[in-house]
Amino acid sequence: MIKKYTIYIFKYTLFILTLITFALPVNSDMSVEEIIKGRKALFSKNYSTAKKVQALASKGDFEKAKTLMIEMSKNYKILLEYFPENTKEGFKTEALPIIWEQKDKFNNLMTKSSTDMIKLTKVIEDSDDIRRTLTQLMWSNCKACHSKFRAPH
Ligand code: HEC
Repeated sequence: MIKKYTIYIFKYTLFILTLITFALPVNSDMSVEEIIKGRKALFSKNYSTAKKVQALASKGDFEKAKTLMIEMSKNYKILLEYFPENTKEGFKTEALPIIWEQKDKFNNLMTKSSTDMIKLTKVIEDSDDIRRTLTQLMWSNCKACHSKFRAPH
């Protein structure tokens, strides 16, 4: 009786593990080309979104600006998955090898950029210097990462 139950649990666990294994790696079925081009597209998207955030916040349209801040925050989280080991070169990537030597630092910076965008949604309205607040919580993160992890372009 106990044995039968153990086997049942074992099979069930195996089934769940299989599910997780196939569901987790977001990029498992993406080629190197798709991943590199995909992350470039996401960064470009974030750049144009950041410019919109700046424009909207500057004219006091905070609700729209906040929606876009949240979008940027999410994109940074997605970007965490776009730097697997096999995408160090090719397809005109500007990603520097130091990313993989200091993966924790790189990921921390990406995560900080993401949480800073959420912080921004909370403080932007009460800021008495919108430009400065945007520099501190949005633009400075681009620079901090690029100066170390992205090739000069
Ligand atoms: C944690 C690191 C990190 C942060 C934060 C970051 N970037 Fe980047 N960015 C990169 C890396 C690495 C690349 C190179 C990607 C590649 O070529 O594979 C890149 C590439 C780009 C590109 C070029 C995309 C292309 O088509 O080649 C643009 C534009 C860009 N980033 C804008 C921004 C802006 C604007 C911000 C801030 C709002 C930002 N990035 C924040 C790391 C970062």
